[in-house]
Amino acid sequence: PDRLFVDVDTGIDDAYALLYACAEAGPRLVGVSTVVGNVSLAAATRNTRAVLALAGRGDVTVAPGAAVPLAPEAVDARAVHGDTGLGHASLPEPQEPASTVHAVDAIVAAARAEPGRLALVATGPLTNIALAVMRDPDLPRHVKRFVIMGGAYAAHGNVTPSAEFNIWHDPEAARIVFRAFGGPGAAPVVAIGLDVTRKVTIDGADLAALAARCGGGPRAPALLRFLEDSARHYFERMERQSGRRFLVMHDPLAVAVALDPGLVETRRAAVDVETAGRLTTGATVVDWDGRWGRLANTEVAVAVDAERVRAKFFAAMERLAG
Ligand code: BDR
Ligand code: CA
Repeated sequence: PDRLFVDVDTGIDDAYALLYACAEAGPRLVGVSTVVGNVSLAAATRNTRAVLALAGRGDVTVAPGAAVPLAPEAVDARAVHGDTGLGHASLPEPQEPASTVHAVDAIVAAARAEPGRLALVATGPLTNIALAVMRDPDLPRHVKRFVIMGGAYAAHGNVTPSAEFNIWHDPEAARIVFRAFGGPGAAPVVAIGLDVTRKVTIDGADLAALAARCGGGPRAPALLRFLEDSARHYFERMERQSGRRFLVMHDPLAVAVALDPGLVETRRAAVDVETAGRLTTGATVVDWDGRWGRLANTEVAVAVDAERVRAKFFAAMERLAG
């Protein structure tokens, strides 16, 4: 794609996704919008601006969007990402102001500016994207590629046994989005779910190796410190849960696939979202066998070249360090 726009709810892995987008897309990163999810809209917006500044991209417009989900029953993920959303990291208060343009307008305008050339990525709940397709039903025809981090297709959930956080947080929005994409002439949803993201992990040894490779570049100390302090919070939680210290690269994988689709293998199928299950609200249901007779609206990622993703991520961080 010639242009990249990312909608985020900046928590820890969203922050890594933004850093990766800055390093890998450079000037092709044309805008960012924020949504409530991991943390409040205000915290997500602050974190996003601070992370872009860390990457030397304080110039990128950050447009705040929805402050509540369409059907507001969800809770945040501060247990995972820490009270601020960035674990134990503390970044300088961002200098650049947030945009006065609403996320929905920013998304619609970015897609319309150069039809067929924008990769749109969502790494948070789909509230802003749902509002954007309600505002502009042609949005799926204007984007070149639409990639989400969200869903659990064959995998089990991470909030409930069947639901993944981003979909569970706003299932109504997710249903609107899945139903809007994938029609004639429209981009499908490229769904990067837990099935593939759980295969891409990093640990303390990876960060130590990165630190050893980064020379005395101007951004290296602040960048390495941020990666270590934010990851440590996530490691501590994983250690309590599983006895192992690691971090799952959910959101960076979605950005990586937007820029390089060959990193995952996908299967096309119809996907819909359970919005009112007694046990399964927020589940992504895939019709692998065509039983619904519906349009196959989604490219579901089923396999990932995890080593290549990791290598690309660390090479990008090394470049960003300068
Ligand atoms: C997703 O949930 C959030 O906590 C992460 O940032 C990621 O987008 C993983 O389920
Ligand atoms: Ca996220």
